[in-house]
Amino acid sequence: MSYSGNTPNRDVNKSADYIKAQTNLRPKIALVLGSGLGSLIQKIEDVASFDFSEIPDFPISSVEGHAGKLIFGNLKSKNCSIPVLAFQGRIHFYETGSMEQVLFPVFLAGQIGIEKLIITNAAGGINSRFNAGDLMLIRDIFTPSHIRLPNNSRNFLFQHQKHFDYFDEEMNQNFIRCASKSKMTMHIGNYCWLTGPSYETPAEIRMLKKIGADAVGMSTVPEVFLAHNLGIKTVAVSFISNLAAGISLKKLSHADVTRAGSTISEQFAELMQQYIFSLA
Ligand code: HPA
Repeated sequence: MSYSGNTPNRDVNKSADYIKAQTNLRPKIALVLGSGLGSLIQKIEDVASFDFSEIPDFPISSVEGHAGKLIFGNLKSKNCSIPVLAFQGRIHFYETGSMEQVLFPVFLAGQIGIEKLIITNAAGGINSRFNAGDLMLIRDIFTPSHIRLPNNSRNFLFQHQKHFDYFDEEMNQNFIRCASKSKMTMHIGNYCWLTGPSYETPAEIRMLKKIGADAVGMSTVPEVFLAHNLGIKTVAVSFISNLAAGISLKKLSHADVTRAGSTISEQFAELMQQYIFSLA
């Protein structure tokens, strides 16, 4: 089975046609901006933007209208510019329990011709070498959460894997080069997805550490599986916004996670800007 065309209930062509009729910009590179990592938007000269809820057949109600935005624009650097599509905000599985909503932006990206996808997220650091404020290039992904997902989402996620290597080696190497020139500290490691919404218990983190997780978060894994199946070259980067429960004794809150992102936001935006130009 291939994923071109429709999700089970939605017509992704209709959504893509609506967008294409309103902008001539045809970016090949898209990026998903995780919690608190939105500063890059300021470096993009907005050409057209769309709330998820205004796009025909996007599986979201207008009540959930603030869930996210697609921003088509030109990323600027000195006298160069490159067209990009930025997803500002994403839908997490825990928000609605709908895997279709989580994945629709990636279906849409494929349909409008995106060839390279950069996924970012905020994550809790488990590896004892990690500090809050570091970055982790995701080498591999896993989830014990499929035991909790409804059957139809399992179909999305697990039946059509073509290959075990989900990330594009050249995109990874470029990121390593760009990060080594930035002030940010970068690690490479395994990301574990749990559905949330609650943060983990210290006992869960001890378990995840034993089974090989370097960082934990509530997104990214479904999107990576789908992007891979659509043939979109993908890279994924976690911002370690905090040390995971029990690694740090500090109580976690979503507000702290977002605040942590905003403190490194400018450095992160600069690194991403360099990175995107390196991919062009
Ligand atoms: N756990 C899960 N998700 C997260 C965390 C965490 O510690 N930090 C940011 N997202």
